[in-house]
Amino acid sequence: MARMSDLESVFCRTAAWRWLARRIVVPRVLDRAIGPEVLEIGCGSGAMAAEVLRLRGGDITHFTATDVDPAMVALAREQLAPFGDRAEARLVDASRLPFGDQSFDTVCSWLMLHHTIGWQAVVADAVRVLRPGGRFVGYDLPDTVASRAVHRLTRSRVLMIDAADLAEHLAACGLTDVVVAPIGLGGAYRFTGTRPEAT
Ligand SMILES: C[S@@+](CC[C@H](N)C(=O)[O-])C[C@H]1O[C@@H](n2cnc3c(N)ncnc32)[C@H](O)[C@@H]1O
Repeated sequence: MARMSDLESVFCRTAAWRWLARRIVVPRVLDRAIGPEVLEIGCGSGAMAAEVLRLRGGDITHFTATDVDPAMVALAREQLAPFGDRAEARLVDASRLPFGDQSFDTVCSWLMLHHTIGWQAVVADAVRVLRPGGRFVGYDLPDTVASRAVHRLTRSRVLMIDAADLAEHLAACGLTDVVVAPIGLGGAYRFTGTRPEAT
């Protein structure tokens, strides 16, 4: 299991990261309503969860933010405290989600799949916990000179994911309306797919 480097973990707690989440990422990635019950995998400091709740909170009845790193979960609990019972942070490995099948309306994954190395299994488990009609949404980074340089600098263990490979795997996991498209931010791409309604 891969964890973030110290440098990355410091950066994702900064005001600059929260600004990026609020002004760029959420508006460009969340193209429609999410929820009402939301799971976030690899939530880090909880910065994205807090911004999603601030910007789209009206759609959300409960937000479960999860991460495999206890230090991150502790930070996420602090970030989410203002939202009371509507949000919680839990220690969870995204490759073994401790939730029943079809438990959530939306699963979010923000810049975390490439940290999991075994990203295909993580995607499959995210799809398993989605209700029919629910959506898997997020963004990630491809293998570029810039992303390689950042991870060399931060000494993170990562496996960058080609956008076409991700699109193929989302469809192979049974999602429909799959979109993987650039968001105009250093090669980053957004992705989404919908679990079909039961027939
Ligand atoms: C670059 S950070 C992104 C954090 C957050 N999503 C954000 O955008 O601010 C990647 C996060 O993924 C988490 N992570 C890596 N592998 C994981 C796994 N198998 N299960 C859950 N979280 C994981 C790391 O601990 C880290 O907090």
